[in-house]
Amino acid sequence: MSLEQIAQLLQQRMGLDASTVGLGVVEHAVLQRMTRQRLDTTEAYLLQLQQDAEELQQLIEEVVVPETWFFRDLHPFQALAQSLENELQRRPLRLLSLPCSTGEEAYTLAMTLLDAGLEDGDFHIDGIDISQRNLAAARTARYRPNAFRGDQLGFRERYFNAIGGIYELDPRVRRTVHFECANLLETDLGTGRDPYDVIFCRNLLIYFDRPTRERALDVLDSLLHDDGLLFLGHAEANALQGRPFQPLPQPRCFGFRRLADRPSPREPQPVARPLDWTPSSRLRRPRPAAPALATAAALSQPEPPAETAPSLEQRLAEIEGMADQGALEDAAAACEALLQTEGPVARAFYLLGLIRHASNHIEAADALLRKALYLDPDYCPAISQLALLCERQGKAAEAGRLRQRLARCLERHPEPSS
Ligand SMILES: C[S@@+](CC[C@H](N)C(=O)[O-])C[C@H]1O[C@@H](n2cnc3c(N)ncnc32)[C@H](O)[C@@H]1O
Repeated sequence: MSLEQIAQLLQQRMGLDASTVGLGVVEHAVLQRMTRQRLDTTEAYLLQLQQDAEELQQLIEEVVVPETWFFRDLHPFQALAQSLENELQRRPLRLLSLPCSTGEEAYTLAMTLLDAGLEDGDFHIDGIDISQRNLAAARTARYRPNAFRGDQLGFRERYFNAIGGIYELDPRVRRTVHFECANLLETDLGTGRDPYDVIFCRNLLIYFDRPTRERALDVLDSLLHDDGLLFLGHAEANALQGRPFQPLPQPRCFGFRRLADRPSPREPQPVARPLDWTPSSRLRRPRPAAPALATAAALSQPEPPAETAPSLEQRLAEIEGMADQGALEDAAAACEALLQTEGPVARAFYLLGLIRHASNHIEAADALLRKALYLDPDYCPAISQLALLCERQGKAAEAGRLRQRLARCLERHPEPSS
């Protein structure tokens, strides 16, 4: 019982919904801290947590997921650079990376702006995170090879010095970022702060339940300039449903512009589509295609009737047809366009995974199928395909577990939704 209470305490304080990482992660962290504190029972540890804010911070340090790397997903940074040409004209430009973890995202913002021709005095970047440990690492600006992933690493040559297997960031970049320890769920985070033109809040909302996500979005909204840009993680973009944000036109950047003139409650609410959090929502109702960047006035026009746009199911069936006929690249492009306009859809990730598998892009296929299953854990075709892929990668144990999961799933859903 105490373990659940500790998980609740963590959720109240930092938002973490233990079910997103597994209660085992919390349990492991608690055991680590109990050993350090020489405590034998979770009851005694819970008591200490309730009385000692510093111990709660230490537990938070144990449970946070610090995973990050430079230029994590290129699209948002490309979209940011493109936005400098038109909407982002204020100087100095104010940017926020929250959560910034060990600093890679905040420094990536700086490199993006410098590469786009801005001078270091033209912008100000804050990096905020709840973890003191991550921030201490961020401030050293020294990175191991694991912080650099993918094959577009030209920036490493331009902005880092390699010394004995460690990459040290150029002080010119380092100086542009200011780090601060704070909690996204603090409602007064914006007090005394100038608003930000751009906020990156990626890969944190996925660890929150829906009410906590809403609280976090309220705080982000209070930090953002009236017409600022908000970038979320790829699985988080649809959390903005019902809020006055307009998707940026660049595909797969998961960036949104806040609409300065908010429509009144009587007017139709723009943009964001709901996240497919539940298995039953694997196929959404038909929706008209998303408008390109639009003014609030345009948004107050009635939406076109749904019949004018092909339904999601029709679009997915069309993509399947293309793939069946061997037009794999066209099918992949159509799938990506669909994900851009509709947000995360399990079946679209599955199809794209299938296409990537067929064209031998194993790592990409693996990631896409896992995304499909993240959105819809009971999506049998994706489980089956991932099992095949694991076998192909020599991961026999995982393939076996997936087959067992498939069997359980088929029992629960005798008619698979392929
Ligand atoms: C997976 S990292 C994301 C880093 C970066 N945004 C990215 O996408 O690569 C998640 C970070 O969120 C931080 N975090 C967790 N809860 C938080 C909260 N309530 N407020 C601020 N930061 C938090 C963790 O310390 C961790 O560094």
